[in-house]
Amino acid sequence: MALCKMLYYLIALCLGVNAKMDCGSYTTKTVKISITSRRNLTGHWIAQVQLEHGGGDKETGPWDMDIEHTTTMCQGNVTVDLKATLIAPPAKSILTAGPEGYDLVPGLGYYKLHTDVKTWDEAHVACEAEGAHLLIINSDEEAKALEIFWDANPKILNGDPNNWAHVGFHDKYKKGQYLTIFNQSLVSTGYVKWYPGDPQGGQQNCGIVVRKSNLLADIYCNSVIPFFCELEL
Ligand SMILES: *[C@@H]1O[C@H](CO)[C@@H](O)[C@H](O)[C@H]1NC(C)=O
Ligand SMILES: *[C@@H]1O[C@H](CO)[C@@H](O)[C@H](O)[C@H]1NC(C)=O
Ligand SMILES: *[C@@H]1O[C@H](CO)[C@@H](O)[C@H](O)[C@H]1NC(C)=O
Repeated sequence: MALCKMLYYLIALCLGVNAKMDCGSYTTKTVKISITSRRNLTGHWIAQVQLEHGGGDKETGPWDMDIEHTTTMCQGNVTVDLKATLIAPPAKSILTAGPEGYDLVPGLGYYKLHTDVKTWDEAHVACEAEGAHLLIINSDEEAKALEIFWDANPKILNGDPNNWAHVGFHDKYKKGQYLTIFNQSLVSTGYVKWYPGDPQGGQQNCGIVVRKSNLLADIYCNSVIPFFCELEL
């Protein structure tokens, strides 16, 4: 057959961008994939793929791309099909609303940053009244997710005390013995990252999380500040 005399390499790149979520307010971003190959020291060709995407700081997690590769050969013509599936995380603006003004952070829980400032004990009671509890941070990921809530409440940025929020730990029973509101050691939560210089101890027996750094610190229990409540998934 005349058509198949020559060997052709046909590369068809089918890029399917699937944002796997409720798209709502999601906006399309430009994605650029560059594949570069080079020889390593033993002469093998190594290809590196770089994924550029325009998510900026609004994304709550990394992007994942899976590429399926199919090669078909027909009478000397080789066709390479690449099918790429891109899974983008939800942007900050599309947190799902939960009960009582709580917002869902997928995979972590429902959270609410109360800006109706209270003492630690009052905050503890207020969270319970909503069927929740004062936040207990269990991972770096969870600590980082708090930024969404601080950012969503810019009005509480004025003044230092408002850059802190009560969370669910204290050393009220024994100085230096930090316990969660469930009487478990702070160490058992998996997240014990103190703000430089903290804990200060003394009469500062209640736990807070510090805006931006998401680090823990202690404060006087009667400090009237915002507080984080958490509803388990
Ligand atoms: C070069 O790449 C080949 C294939 O991936 C690998 O087996 C080899 O160890 C690499 N050599 C060096 C020096 O990295
Ligand atoms: C092989 O590739 C050539 C050039 O793209 C095309 O014209 C021809 O139809 C192909 N042949 C087959 C059998 O697919
Ligand atoms: C935690 O321990 C204290 C002191 O032993 C006790 O008074 C309190 O009721 C306990 N709280 C919980 C939630 O178990």
